[in-house]
Amino acid sequence: MTAPRPETLAKLTPVLTKRWLSPDAWRIGTYEKLDGYAALRKALKAHPDDLIQLIKDSGLRGRGGAGFPTGLKWGFIPQGDGKPHYLVVNADEGEPGTCKDLPLMTHDPHSLVEGVIIASYAIRANRAYIYIRGEAVHAARRLRNAVREAYAKGYLGRNIQGTGFDLDLVVHSGAGAYICGEETALLDSLEGFRGQPRLRPPFPATHGLYASPTVVNNVGTIASVPYIVLGGADWWKTMGTEKSSGPMIYSLSGRIANPGQFECSMGITLRELIELAGGMQPGHNLRFWTPGGSSTPLLTAEHLDVPLDFEGVAAAGSILGTTATQIFSDQDCPVYATYRWLEFYHHESCGKCTPCREGNYWMVRVYRRILAGHGTHEDLDTLLDTCDNILGRSFCGLGDGATSSVTSSLKYFKQDYLDYIEGRTAPKLSEKQLVGAH
Ligand SMILES: Cc1cc2nc3c(=O)[nH]c(=O)nc-3n(C[C@H](O)[C@H](O)[C@H](O)COP(=O)(O)O)c2cc1C
Ligand code: SF4
Repeated sequence: MTAPRPETLAKLTPVLTKRWLSPDAWRIGTYEKLDGYAALRKALKAHPDDLIQLIKDSGLRGRGGAGFPTGLKWGFIPQGDGKPHYLVVNADEGEPGTCKDLPLMTHDPHSLVEGVIIASYAIRANRAYIYIRGEAVHAARRLRNAVREAYAKGYLGRNIQGTGFDLDLVVHSGAGAYICGEETALLDSLEGFRGQPRLRPPFPATHGLYASPTVVNNVGTIASVPYIVLGGADWWKTMGTEKSSGPMIYSLSGRIANPGQFECSMGITLRELIELAGGMQPGHNLRFWTPGGSSTPLLTAEHLDVPLDFEGVAAAGSILGTTATQIFSDQDCPVYATYRWLEFYHHESCGKCTPCREGNYWMVRVYRRILAGHGTHEDLDTLLDTCDNILGRSFCGLGDGATSSVTSSLKYFKQDYLDYIEGRTAPKLSEKQLVGAH
C-alpha cells in the first residue's frame, strides 16, 4: 500500500463521517458532547420556511442517486392543507457497491435522527419513518436505540424542547428487495402492500404515504441537514463545485489496497480517490469502474481525471448515482461482471412492466450463451436492441439502470465479447450452467 501525499490527504473533508471513529459515537452522550442536537435547538427557534430557504441556499442535492435539489423538494409540500405530512427516510441502500448509509447509521445514528427532527419541523410533519433494509440488522438496532435515547431526552415525542412541536419517529425494517428503494415502491411497502412502483403523477409531494403530502429523502441527505443548520449555507458551499455543493461519501470497493468510505468535496477525481485508498492492489491495473453503482454506465482508465460531481460525470457519459465506485482491474472481465449485474436486475425486477421483466430475462440467457462459448455475432445486436427497448420504456428506473453496464461494456470492451464468440477466450460458464438457464 502506498501512503497518499499530504496534498491529496488534505482533500478529505470529514463532515458526516467526523464522529465515526470516536469511541461509542452511537450513544447520545458522546453525540451531545460532539455538538450533537445543537443544530436542533437552533432550528427550533427558526421559522420552518426559513429552514427550507436555508436548505435551498445551501444547494444540497439528494444523496440517493438522482441529485434532486432538497430544498426545492421540501418546498413542494403544500402548507395549510389540513392533511398530515410525512417525512420518509430511504435507508434501503440496495444499489450494488453502495455502502455509505449503513455505516452512517451504524456509527452515527443520532446525526440522522437529528436531521429527521429538523426536516420534519421544516415541512410540518408530526410523523416520520426510516425505512431500513431488512438485512441491516446491526444498523437497525443502533438506530432503534438512538430513537429510544432521543425520546428519553425529549428530542422526540410531545412538545419537543418546550416548543409545542410533536414528532413520532418509527424505524421500519423492509424485507430486502432492491425495488423497495424506489421511492413509490417504498411507500407501498411501508403501507403494507407488495413493493411495486406507483404511477406518477400524482407525486409523493401531494399524494405520498397514505395519499398525504410526503417527502422521501436519502439517509445522507437528511444527515447533512444538521451540519448546514449549524455551519450555514455559505460554509456548506465552500465544499464541492458550483452546482454540486458540499461533501460526499464515496464508497470505494474492488481492486484497491484499502477499500472503504472516503468523504471528500464533490468534484474529487478517481485518481485522487485511489491514491487516498493506498493505490491499486499489487499487480492490478485499473481497467473499468462504476462511478455510482451498477446502474451507472462503466467508465475506464481514460476517465481517471473526471470530476466526480453531478455535471462532471454526466459530461463523461455516466451518472454520479450513489458515488459507489467499484474498481476493476486488467484481471477482471467486463463481460462476466456485466452478466453478474444482469443476474441481479433479473432477480430484482418486480415484474410490473414488460420491457424490464422480459428484457432482463432474455439478456441473462444471451450472456450465459456467450460466456459458455456458444455466442454469435448477432447476440451483440440482440443485446443492444433489447437495451433500446428497455431504456426509457420501463415503468421505473430499475429497468433503465439494468441497461447501463450492457451498453457501456459493449461500447468500451466489444473486443472482450468477440473474444468469447470467436473462441480466443476460454468459456467462463460450463455447459451445465448453460443448460440450467431458466
Ligand atoms: C430501483 C431503484 C432503487 C433505489 N434505491 C434507493 C435506495 O436504496 N436509497 C435511496 O435513497 N434512493 C434509492 N432510489 C432513489 C429513490 O427513488 C429516490 O430518488 C430517493 O430516495 C430520493 O432521495 P434524495 O432526493 O434524498 O436522493 C432508488 C431508485 C430506484 C429506481
Ligand atoms: S422497470 Fe422493472 S422494477 Fe421497475 S416497474 Fe418495471 S418491472 Fe418493475
